[in-house]
Amino acid sequence: MFLLGEIVSVVSGKGGVGKTTIALNVAAALKKMGYESIVVEGNVTSPTASLYLGYMPAHRTINNVLNGDFALDEVILEHDSGVKLVTCSLALPELAANYNKAFTMLRKLKEKADLVLVDAGAGLGEEARSAIDISDFVLVVTNPEMPSVIDALRCVRLARAMKKKVLGIVVNRVNVSLPQVPVKEIEEIAEAPVLAEIREDRAVHESFSYNFPVTHFRPNSRAGNEISRLAALLVGEEFQSKENSFLDRLNFWLHRVKIKALP
Ligand SMILES: Nc1ncnc2c1ncn2[C@@H]1O[C@H](COP(=O)(O)OP(=O)(O)OP(=O)(O)O)[C@@H](O)[C@H]1O
Ligand SMILES: [Mg+2]
Repeated sequence: MFLLGEIVSVVSGKGGVGKTTIALNVAAALKKMGYESIVVEGNVTSPTASLYLGYMPAHRTINNVLNGDFALDEVILEHDSGVKLVTCSLALPELAANYNKAFTMLRKLKEKADLVLVDAGAGLGEEARSAIDISDFVLVVTNPEMPSVIDALRCVRLARAMKKKVLGIVVNRVNVSLPQVPVKEIEEIAEAPVLAEIREDRAVHESFSYNFPVTHFRPNSRAGNEISRLAALLVGEEFQSKENSFLDRLNFWLHRVKIKALP
């Protein structure tokens, strides 16, 4: 795959399967590989991407651009890990009323990064459709449990009906000691190839408690490694497992000093 310059939405039928975790960490892994990506908070009713990164709440949002208070460049937040994020305020009606304007503006982000990842709202409702609508490609996330896999199929079909290319499925929170739907069956049921199998990993929880991506916090954890492999696949690079560089370690240290200093 070679998705540079494209917009990819990260979607799921069932909620809580790991879309935000994957969108943020793929962006973080790409940053380590030297690619700039921007994560767009497409989950307007329950935005968590900004919270995961420690913005509570983000003071500059896409709504500020719609209101003419800030330029698009000014609402691109840059986290200490290098992840870039464009977030929304909770004012859904404001966004809905300006849908066309917001749409055009978000499409412009393509010019400002190598890859744009839209962290969609769960389900097949308006939020998810808007995220799919705005994107060029779709990545579907599921857990290896039947209800989630069936919902993944709904997403795949919706995206294809909207004439979008489905890149494939990411199976998240795989726990090999539990009976779970095997990959082969997921591919058959959801009618799309599985691109990555990410383990249930406590490093994911730990990393978010520091508001830092797992790909940087524990790059060689099972989840960190697999998400980095997925990121490499999306941009057509060969995956190489890497320790944190001196700069990565310094950024994390500065981040910790900063969050400690917060009131
Ligand atoms: N591989 C993993 N291992 C352990 N915990 C995980 C993993 N992936 C996600 N989680 C945890 O699962 C929870 C839900 O993840 P996340 O918020 O990314 O899901 P989501 O699909 O974006 O949810 P929503 O539909 O509400 O937007 C979080 O607490 C996250 O830390
Ligand atoms: Mg989410």
